[in-house]
Amino acid sequence: MHLWYDEPASLKAGFSFALSLSNDVEMKHDPELIHGDCRDILKDLGKSGIQADLIFVDPPFAIGQDYEGFVDLMSPEEYIEFTEEYLQSLIQVCHDHTSVWFNVPDSIAAEIVTWMRANDFHLINWCIWHYRFAQNHRARFLSSKTHALWFCQWKPKWYPDRVVVESCRSAEYDDWRDDATGFRVPFDVWGFERFWGRVQGNNKERRQGHPNQLPEKYLERVILCCTDEDDLVIDPFLVLERLVL
Ligand SMILES: C[S@@+](CC[C@H](N)C(=O)[O-])C[C@H]1O[C@@H](n2cnc3c(N)ncnc32)[C@H](O)[C@@H]1O
Repeated sequence: MHLWYDEPASLKAGFSFALSLSNDVEMKHDPELIHGDCRDILKDLGKSGIQADLIFVDPPFAIGQDYEGFVDLMSPEEYIEFTEEYLQSLIQVCHDHTSVWFNVPDSIAAEIVTWMRANDFHLINWCIWHYRFAQNHRARFLSSKTHALWFCQWKPKWYPDRVVVESCRSAEYDDWRDDATGFRVPFDVWGFERFWGRVQGNNKERRQGHPNQLPEKYLERVILCCTDEDDLVIDPFLVLERLVL
């Protein structure tokens, strides 16, 4: 898929994340949708010489979600096997500068990092997306995060100026050592600012019936920081049936 956006912050097109964009979304290119099992499709794309500039991987979390024909209830062993299968497929569409981003739960983050490193990818950032709408229980501390992992084989594209945020040192402490502009690159823990929470069923931006919609801001940051206009972005896991473009 091709993406087009104005600098610095207005996202114009998306793929699965078009689900969460507002009505003023403009497409320069129609996204190309391929329906099927990404473990096979990514391999086929690799064989035909397709190389992605960004891959955003938001896989099933193995928590029993009702997806369209895909099984989301897997044992830990089956989940690792499934993960290794799609990792093996997605590296077929990578080149030296491809940014590979994951949005994954605690149960698989460490395995993904180990696997990617063993396959010659560098971990550029291990970010955390923190949300404050956690599933309530009393069995242990409540889970309120996913892992936003960024990998590249060699050197990713990186445009920090597009994603800078106000520096709290300057805004709150009148201390300008971070940057004379008063803006800095975001910390690696995301989610404290406005519009970064989980998109719940009672939020007005929630697409009807979407089981796990990500905030637009999250995808916006990922896309802006590491892609150029007309880059190819692949999103191997998306909620296809509910996709409204
Ligand atoms: C966590 S959701 C992704 C949500 C997506 N980021 C969005 O906002 O629409 C995971 C999706 O992957 C799909 N899926 C599961 N296994 C798959 C597979 N082997 N190949 C392709 N898609 C798969 C599920 O049906 C589900 O829609």
